Amino acid sequence: MSDTLASQRGLVVSADPDCEAIAKELAATLGVPVAWGEGSANAPFTLWATHDGLSVTWRDGDAPLGTVRVNLEVGRPGRDPIVRAVRSSRRAGTLHVVDATAGLGKDALALARAGMRVTAIERDPLLAVLLEDALHRANQATGADLRDLASRMRVLQGDARRLLAEVRPPPDVVVLDPMYPRLRGGAKRRDAAFLRAWLGEPSNDATDEERALQEVAQGVASNRVVVKRPLKAPMLAPGVSGSLRGATTRFDVYAGRRLADATEPNTLEKA
Ligand SMILES: C[S@@+](CC[C@H](N)C(=O)[O-])C[C@H]1O[C@@H](n2cnc3c(N)ncnc32)[C@H](O)[C@@H]1O
Repeated sequence: MSDTLASQRGLVVSADPDCEAIAKELAATLGVPVAWGEGSANAPFTLWATHDGLSVTWRDGDAPLGTVRVNLEVGRPGRDPIVRAVRSSRRAGTLHVVDATAGLGKDALALARAGMRVTAIERDPLLAVLLEDALHRANQATGADLRDLASRMRVLQGDARRLLAEVRPPPDVVVLDPMYPRLRGGAKRRDAAFLRAWLGEPSNDATDEERALQEVAQGVASNRVVVKRPLKAPMLAPGVSGSLRGATTRFDVYAGRRLADATEPNTLEKA
């Protein structure tokens, strides 16, 4: 009987009939059971393996709450504030960024779309499996643009406090987006609602773990660490050298380990 965190949360794997082998492999990786037909109907979380890739459905008793899936799609990076906070005055193509809290990969995708090389680290095995599946599908795609995007990305599963020091080449920038409780009401976006349902409600205060992650990140990023926070949330750690503010989100920038960065002009502006 499996006793991983994923199985304690009630995850099962289900599949199209001809994706049985993939389902069994995923179940073994995640330490959860495979459930066919009715067996998956009552599970709080089901990872579905189909020919179109992986997705997760979640439910509360009889009530289906939603489906999430990670897709890499090409598109213009636009004026995404995370891209501006990470890049500053530098050329995107010269930057290697580690997204050390990758989640469902939205920020990692925005950075890769802007032309940066992105290493996405995610601690949770289920989320890492979804990210790897999206990257795999993109690498197999017929469109050269999508394959090109995928070639700039990779996924590592594990705790970033340990993995950050092992990433090669060492990152120019590390991005952190620790979970934070919504300041009012429940999570509106489906992805955020899923992360809260799957990972649990985060704490209001920066935890020792998050502070340790920020410290490790500052020790390895040569250029800067960017921490994404809700607009009114307290800083994760003291020492912010500038912030970029959006309508609901703030990007706090901490200088990286290269001394030269301390003299780089502050190009942050209001989003
Ligand atoms: C708010 S979510 C990030 C959402 C992400 N920015 C996106 O665009 O989808 C935070 C994620 O960080 C992950 N995480 C937290 N601490 C971590 C650590 N020490 N190492 C790796 N991942 C971590 C959590 O599992 C969670 O998936």
